[in-house]
Amino acid sequence: MSAETDAPVHVCSLAELEERGVRVVSAGGRSVAVFWADGAAYAVDNRCPHMGFPMSRGTVRDGILTCHWHHARFELSGGCTFDPFADDLPVFKVEVRDGEVFLEPRRERGEAPAAHWQRKLRLVERALRDFGLMEAFEERPLEERAACLLWIAASTDSDEEEDRVSRMLDALAGGGPLVPRQAALRRPRARA
Ligand code: FES
Repeated sequence: MSAETDAPVHVCSLAELEERGVRVVSAGGRSVAVFWADGAAYAVDNRCPHMGFPMSRGTVRDGILTCHWHHARFELSGGCTFDPFADDLPVFKVEVRDGEVFLEPRRERGEAPAAHWQRKLRLVERALRDFGLMEAFEERPLEERAACLLWIAASTDSDEEEDRVSRMLDALAGGGPLVPRQAALRRPRARA
């Protein structure tokens, strides 16, 4: 069972972090990746919120951490994702004291789950408005809308991500099912 505690966890010396660029520690029942980038230390959950690939194997550039499995990108200091198919990445406080790096295992961004999902859904809503499909969406039965939103928010097959979202938008525009069955998924899509 995991337990979140406030006790700081020693990560390594600053010299070692500077040299290696990233270290992974176990803290509060989870694996945390501590990065050194642009002269500062940052700590994030080591599991990619998309499909769990180790973030410690990602690449940091210009303050953006990229996961190497499906290339989801996250803002390193705050954990916000740039890619809707991935959730935000939990971040943690990290401190350098007397040449040693310490991690505070409690999550820095303590957004409640309800507020978190409301924010995600607002992003999806904005996308539907941008595509001019909100009216069509609102006419659909509640269960279809819920399935559709979950499908987008938790979509896991990033290789086909663009196609899947496009198919959903096509289905909305044409009155087809929002969450097509397997046969429909193989149907070539026609876009205006
Ligand atoms: S597991 Fe990281 S982007 Fe898919």
